[in-house]
Amino acid sequence: MNDTKRGKFIVFEGLDGSGKTTQMKLLAKFLESKGEPCYTTHEPTDSPFGALLKSCLTGRVDADERAIAALFASDRLDHILNGVNGIKKKLEEGVNVFCDRYYFSSFAYNGEFVPFEWVVELNRPAREILRPDLTVFIDLPSDESMKRVSRRGETERYETAEKQAKIRERFYSAFKRFPDEKVAIVTSEEDKKMTQAKIREEILPLFGL
Ligand code: TMP
Repeated sequence: MNDTKRGKFIVFEGLDGSGKTTQMKLLAKFLESKGEPCYTTHEPTDSPFGALLKSCLTGRVDADERAIAALFASDRLDHILNGVNGIKKKLEEGVNVFCDRYYFSSFAYNGEFVPFEWVVELNRPAREILRPDLTVFIDLPSDESMKRVSRRGETERYETAEKQAKIRERFYSAFKRFPDEKVAIVTSEEDKKMTQAKIREEILPLFGL
């Protein structure tokens, strides 16, 4: 009989430049130091699905928005289910998985180009197979998001202030659309340590810490 405790699945969402990647890694490092095995991952993934998506996002490959939305959903299903380093496999091995973006990003970003409910349908299998134990939304005003993104250099197609504002609104609509999802909203502070402290308040109780 397999008595390994299933790992926790925690997702980080936010606008571009919200600091979710940094915050997620800080948290995983902290939990590792407390003896919790952690695996950090992201979407789009580094798989062939993800590589194709990245080419679509930068405009190197020209694809229809419906195809892109479906590709995000495919990348996600492969991310959950693949037998090498799939999220489900990791969780069953007792590893905690921290994922930078998941289906709420599809609702918020791809809902710009294709009907929202269509994106919901595309992501129904992922929601049925694997829901996060918690989604942490790192909130940031859209003008601040743009400031941070423009400091980074290369901008992708979503990266204008108006688009970021709409994406933020769609994140909130999606949280309302799925009241059964566990979501913690944390404001991104200038001081990374303060943001991290707020995130820990939300997450550590899940680990009995
Ligand atoms: P990143 O900047 O966090 O690496 O994400 C890449 C871009 O992909 C970002 O602009 C958001 C977008 N995206 C979608 O449009 N749909 C999705 O389902 C995901 C996961 C990301």
